[in-house]
Amino acid sequence: MIHFNNHNARNIRLLSRIFALVAVLVAGVVAAPCQDVPSNAPYKNSKLLVEERVHDLLGRMTPEEKASMLSGANWMETVAILRLGLPSIKMADGPMGIRSWHGPSAKTKADEDHFRSTAFPAGIAVAATWDPEVAQSVGQAIGQEMRALGRNMILGPTVNIQRVPLWGRNFEGYGEDPYLAGRMGVAYIKGVQSEGVIATVKHFAANNQEFERHRVDEAIDERTLQEIYFPAFKAAVQEAGVWSVMSAYQKVNGSYCAENAFLLQDVLRKQWGFKGLVVSDWGSTYSTAGTVNAGMDLEMPGGEPARTWLAKPDSKKNGNGGGWLWQEKVLADVKAGNISTATIDENVSAILRTIFVSGIFDRSETASSEIDTPAQRAVARRGAAESIVLLKNAGNLLPLDPSKIKSIAVIGPDAAVARTGGGGSSMVKFKSAVSPLDGIKEKAGNGVQVSYALGVSTPGEDPAKDTPEARDQLRKEAVALSAKADAAIVLVGNSVKVESEDFDRKTLDLPDGQDELIKAVAQANRNTVVIFNAGAPVNVSRWVDDVPSVLDAWFGGEEMGHAIADVLFGGVNPSGKLPFSFINEFKESPAYGNYPGEDLHVKYAEGIYVGYRYFDKHGITPQFPFGYGLSYTNFGYSDLKIKPGKDSSGRKFEVSMKLRNEGKRAGAEVVELYVHDGHASVDRPVKELKGFRRVELVPGKSTTVIFTIDKNALAFYSTQKKDWVTEPGTFDVLIGASSADIRLKGSFDLTN
Ligand code: BGC
Repeated sequence: MIHFNNHNARNIRLLSRIFALVAVLVAGVVAAPCQDVPSNAPYKNSKLLVEERVHDLLGRMTPEEKASMLSGANWMETVAILRLGLPSIKMADGPMGIRSWHGPSAKTKADEDHFRSTAFPAGIAVAATWDPEVAQSVGQAIGQEMRALGRNMILGPTVNIQRVPLWGRNFEGYGEDPYLAGRMGVAYIKGVQSEGVIATVKHFAANNQEFERHRVDEAIDERTLQEIYFPAFKAAVQEAGVWSVMSAYQKVNGSYCAENAFLLQDVLRKQWGFKGLVVSDWGSTYSTAGTVNAGMDLEMPGGEPARTWLAKPDSKKNGNGGGWLWQEKVLADVKAGNISTATIDENVSAILRTIFVSGIFDRSETASSEIDTPAQRAVARRGAAESIVLLKNAGNLLPLDPSKIKSIAVIGPDAAVARTGGGGSSMVKFKSAVSPLDGIKEKAGNGVQVSYALGVSTPGEDPAKDTPEARDQLRKEAVALSAKADAAIVLVGNSVKVESEDFDRKTLDLPDGQDELIKAVAQANRNTVVIFNAGAPVNVSRWVDDVPSVLDAWFGGEEMGHAIADVLFGGVNPSGKLPFSFINEFKESPAYGNYPGEDLHVKYAEGIYVGYRYFDKHGITPQFPFGYGLSYTNFGYSDLKIKPGKDSSGRKFEVSMKLRNEGKRAGAEVVELYVHDGHASVDRPVKELKGFRRVELVPGKSTTVIFTIDKNALAFYSTQKKDWVTEPGTFDVLIGASSADIRLKGSFDLTN
């Protein structure tokens, strides 16, 4: 019990002053000498143009206030300026949902449970749907949850291209093709921003490996940057109007991305017209004037959390850099003439513009608890269901026939656990998730007996089960169970300890013991289905010929268990297609020999020949090609028409074709359109994806699918002209069910 006396009262007053000071420091609020701001100051008027508001507000800020804004207030917030009523931007990690961040700066509610949010399917799963509507609805649901938590800037989407199949963060992104990644990124951003939440497209540019991500210098020629590593960012800026771009950790062509004027000024702002805010990745700055002058607006994190974190031995060991845009350093460089006040004004304007455009200035954030609602879970479920790729289905084992399959053995380390996502900053703590075993039990119905065995434990999850004897025992149990059942479903794959931010995988092999488990179960039961969780290719070569059916279920978010069961029992006809070329070993990859680099230098020697562009060039068919995925039905492709046959005015070409569901089940097909330019003055890929449509059809029905091709789809980047060039001549149009399964071919002439 506390008794109040004078002494205590004095202590309490003192304490409350300290708390107030700490609160100001933590919230990063800058209280400049009091200066009256009229309530009708133009910048407060939401009816004025954003640029007028920015101009007015900037004119009212002191040099100190401006300099204070270039570094974060703390881990996830920008500096607020109370006397001007300027709120902070409150960030949260994405992109697969809202990361449950436990740092004080992200706590909008005392109860930690409120940070549990919907775990949506990983970016790679969303890409596998080839359905921009899914990407947009995921983005919108995340935007809603952000608002409900009182946050207003999500750190996603990740649109980096899958160059190296071993990259630890492949699961976050949208695969190997720039066009597909662009469509998905644009849709996601539109969804997020429709809720008034700032989307942050990341990591600009070419963040393609975790190995030494703070130190490596990537040598990438300009054509390759423009044709492979930039397009998804460009589309985010020009088509989705993204409000924020995050720079990458590593160096590109000799200069850190955070101080790379070529990237941030020449390309992003001058070529693409970006007007929003550039934020650094967390701990990726290495200079003051160099960074500010290159057009980096905001260094994150900032304040006390940054000081503490940067002082840690681990941050130093990793090569994190930060603390360069702290107010005192910026002011000192302004004084020394290394940074002009006009440059500071530009950077601050970018932050203010983003605050006005997104509506953050004009609304008061009221947190609600509308998180993980049934509607948001439904978005996660649709995404998971559309993402699953049927890789093999010999003898049409799937969907399981209820008249024949009366008992199912569910086996494996990914059966009773929902592997919703990969590891690192994107990891979402869900409120509840449906494991495949739960989903299967729920769907199987009364007539079907479902049994379960672990089979093998995931390395590192339970050391007692990792000994050779324990493994033997677990495998024997699984085999015995499988032998008695009508069908065996084996669920394996990578965990957050295998695929994660911060490190790359060493191999594409499945974790220890999983191949052996699959082979043993397949021997015991000829109706074996293998389902795996992964964000990139895994080596299937040791068992793919031994099992009739294989499904890639990605990291499918919290509803993945339902989606898997729907596909197994036929409630959902699988329609996902691979967003990358599926290989078994890293040595098959175009990046092999040029990863992870030598002496911290990585040569992108394969140039534009990433993924299927490389396999096509060398006439190699990987285990499963880009764009591949089977269905429980068959689709017929016919009647390709291209209008107009000749065009001299740069108008669009219309490509149409007929798609027919020739099987017995309703289903969706993703029709892929590739273009080939055989006459160019430079070497061009055998084909490049320039269009796709996901079309649902009931059996016996057909529909006309229409694409338009404009000049942009025909152009290559000319390093001589420093521009995109379309050369007249004949272009081939290839329509396929995958990059290796072209069903229709035609051509048109582009004349001068
Ligand atoms: C990641 C970013 C993330 C940031 C903040 C970094 O390590 O690369 O993607 O948004 O941390 O958590």
